[in-house]
Amino acid sequence: MKFTEEVFAPHMRPITGSAIREIFKLLGKPGMISFAGGNPSNAALEPEVISELAVEVLAKYGTSLLQYGATEGFGPFIESAGEFLSEVGFRAGAGELLPVQGGTQGFDLLIKALVEPGDVILAEDPTFLGALQAMHTYNARIIPVATDENGVIPEDVEEKIKKYSPKLMYIIPSFQNPTGVTLSLERRKAMAQLACQYGVVLAEDDPYRDLRYAGEALPAIKAFDEEGWVVYLSSFSKYVSPGMRLGAAVGNKMLIRKMTIGKQSTDVHSPLLVQAIIDAYLRKGLMPGHLKRICGDYKKQLDAMLEGFKYLPAGTRHTVPEGGLFVWAELPEGMDAKALLDRCLENNVAYVPGTFFYVEGGHENTMRLNFSNATIEDIDKGMRALGAALAQ
Ligand SMILES: Cc1ncc(COP(=O)(O)O)c(C=O)c1O
Repeated sequence: MKFTEEVFAPHMRPITGSAIREIFKLLGKPGMISFAGGNPSNAALEPEVISELAVEVLAKYGTSLLQYGATEGFGPFIESAGEFLSEVGFRAGAGELLPVQGGTQGFDLLIKALVEPGDVILAEDPTFLGALQAMHTYNARIIPVATDENGVIPEDVEEKIKKYSPKLMYIIPSFQNPTGVTLSLERRKAMAQLACQYGVVLAEDDPYRDLRYAGEALPAIKAFDEEGWVVYLSSFSKYVSPGMRLGAAVGNKMLIRKMTIGKQSTDVHSPLLVQAIIDAYLRKGLMPGHLKRICGDYKKQLDAMLEGFKYLPAGTRHTVPEGGLFVWAELPEGMDAKALLDRCLENNVAYVPGTFFYVEGGHENTMRLNFSNATIEDIDKGMRALGAALAQ
């Protein structure tokens, strides 16, 4: 018998993998300047430091790091990660922090614990593609909520809570992927209040928080969560290394317990060696200096990109993010960033068309531009090439 698509669960059949991955295949071309990815810069990664810490923790903990461990996580890391996150405005108590393999796994385990097929999840529109894919995988019904330059609009959220009785809300509060927008303080309070008032779990996905280049740090939504409805998802991917796959989910004890049980059948536990290395990194106080250094570099790259908008067609609008890795652009109405991508790739510059980030597509004139993976010179060159290709 022939193996066909019919074998797969009906809701999995339309999921063909991220459109971005297809664009990434084209980036190997010599001379290509990529504004398409979401990776930290290679210059932000520290192989020598990580290698020293690996030797050190293996000498300290020996075979226990190479054995199976508890799903609940490596004790010292739970402690140091809790301490690291206390700056965000809350303190994780016993049983409230679960080490996970990146924010991706944190969100996956949360949906796994909460969502039945057909359940509604409210999501910002546009939002992170990986999160959309996870929601589709669990066969959730995704309802988009409106956003503006201050992030998600609580009035629209409330209306949709009343209309759709969602199981979950998914919000990226700092330097959002893809728009770069940050949720204002007032709205953070309002979102925590809505979650508690209506009893809807709010996933606060905050991997960019400490990549701030301007303005004041804001407390997390979770800092205003009085009844345990907010789950804070943190990640060391954008700060230290995405390849190490480590993050932390913080939520109420019952929810973290259920996510822990879900994790048992997913991967048993997050790698102990990685948890021990990041624990040592935090305990040695390496994070503040590292963040200061990479934020200094990223700010220069961001400034170069913002400057480069002078090359883009008149009428192009863009966000001016205070941090993170992305700028969001809206080309003049009628231009189609997806249709124009081929021409831009021929001109050796890549980006991600914004339409992919919308729950229901559309918005063809939008694009996401990443500035962390090109030098200042290349950013200028790339923006010039982009302008030339779009003007043709
Ligand atoms: C908003 C958001 N959440 C989560 C992730 C995934 O990060 P992690 O490596 O922690 O799984 C990303 C990565 O691009 C992201 O932009």
